[in-house]
Amino acid sequence: MGESIVTIHETSGKGLVWTACRRAVIIIVMKFDEGIYQIALEDWLYQQDFQKHFDSPQPLEVDLGAGKGRFILARAGKQPEINFLGIERKLVRVRKIEKKAFRNDTHNIRLLRLEGQYCVQYLFPDASVDTYYIFYPDPWPKAKHHKNRLMKASFVDQLHRTLKTDGKIHFSSDHLPYYDEVKALMDADQRFTPIDPFIPTEDETTDFELLFAGKIPGRCSYQKR
Ligand SMILES: C[S@@+](CC[C@H](N)C(=O)[O-])C[C@H]1O[C@@H](n2cnc3c(N)ncnc32)[C@H](O)[C@@H]1O
Repeated sequence: MGESIVTIHETSGKGLVWTACRRAVIIIVMKFDEGIYQIALEDWLYQQDFQKHFDSPQPLEVDLGAGKGRFILARAGKQPEINFLGIERKLVRVRKIEKKAFRNDTHNIRLLRLEGQYCVQYLFPDASVDTYYIFYPDPWPKAKHHKNRLMKASFVDQLHRTLKTDGKIHFSSDHLPYYDEVKALMDADQRFTPIDPFIPTEDETTDFELLFAGKIPGRCSYQKR
């Protein structure tokens, strides 16, 4: 990121969380409520120590596009020895997860209302994440919109940079052409080893997956060498 660059707009409206253009990165930090579990960063531009937002430093697992949170809530409830960060761009969903985490007394969840790609690229330090869960990211099925897909070579570079050695990526999609594309991209990437796909337990099955119960999604998982 160059120096001349950055404007931060705060807005309560809807819209893109960030827009990148040739020489500038404009970040629009949309309205958030800072709560017990929803975090606001001191600095939205540069790499952050996310561990300091948790009760204590522990392995960090990230749910990118956490949705309504069924997965992260179940997983974090069962694994208090791990810190879980849910990233989600829809405020209403972040609030929903926060309420449930509060009700369940789940202390090892933090939520960030932000665009996931921006967060990984600019805010996560090198080798700071143990696991990424990327479940049912928007498939952008029309060819002219494929450029909007989260999983592409440049983003995989950022996942690699931010993962610790032996760190994992778990991916699933019900849109099989997107799944096939991601699997081909990852299988060809010598920096990762394919491992057994992550299969959620019943309580961890995501809200989105429950919507199409019966349809078999594509699932694949990888470990950083
Ligand atoms: C199809 S839903 C899947 C949600 C959840 N992973 C599940 O399986 O139930 C995709 C979610 O990702 C969120 N999302 C999409 N693109 C995002 C992005 N670039 N950054 C953060 N969240 C994003 C959407 O708001 C939505 O909640």
